[in-house]
Amino acid sequence: MEKTFIMIKPDGVRRGLMGEIIGRIERKGFKITKAKLVKPNKELVEEHYIEHREKPFFNELVDYILDGLVMAMEVEGENVIEIMRLMIGHRDPKVALPGTIRGDFAHSLTENIIHGSDSPESAERELSLWFK
Ligand code: CDP
Ligand code: MG
Repeated sequence: MEKTFIMIKPDGVRRGLMGEIIGRIERKGFKITKAKLVKPNKELVEEHYIEHREKPFFNELVDYILDGLVMAMEVEGENVIEIMRLMIGHRDPKVALPGTIRGDFAHSLTENIIHGSDSPESAERELSLWFK
């Protein structure tokens, strides 16, 4: 069965949205097979976002993820990678549709509540990074 890596970012945890997000995942019929509430170190966060290391927003992004607890999860289900990306919604808050997690709860380009792997390769890499 396909698995993906989902992370509720510090703003999601701080705003008390864990229950809402976990509820949506469960009501969709996906299974949360691993979960931990953790304060990751800088090395892990930089490795997680390695594809963005040359981007102008990289340092701001890393500092944001380091600013509190995150909920790291392994979520399992048929086509879970693509479907979770749909449920998460677009990265640009002006494009994220109502009904998606970002569309319903976020208006910032950086602080956008949740991360979900974007491909089978990323899912495998991110799951092995966060649950080693
Ligand atoms: O999270 P997603 O895969 O949808 O987007 P991304 O393009 O891979 O960017 C990763 C994360 O970087 C986003 O979720 C934002 O938190 C942050 N970001 C940012 O701070 N400023 C940008 N211009 C683009 C992304
Ligand atoms: Mg991404």
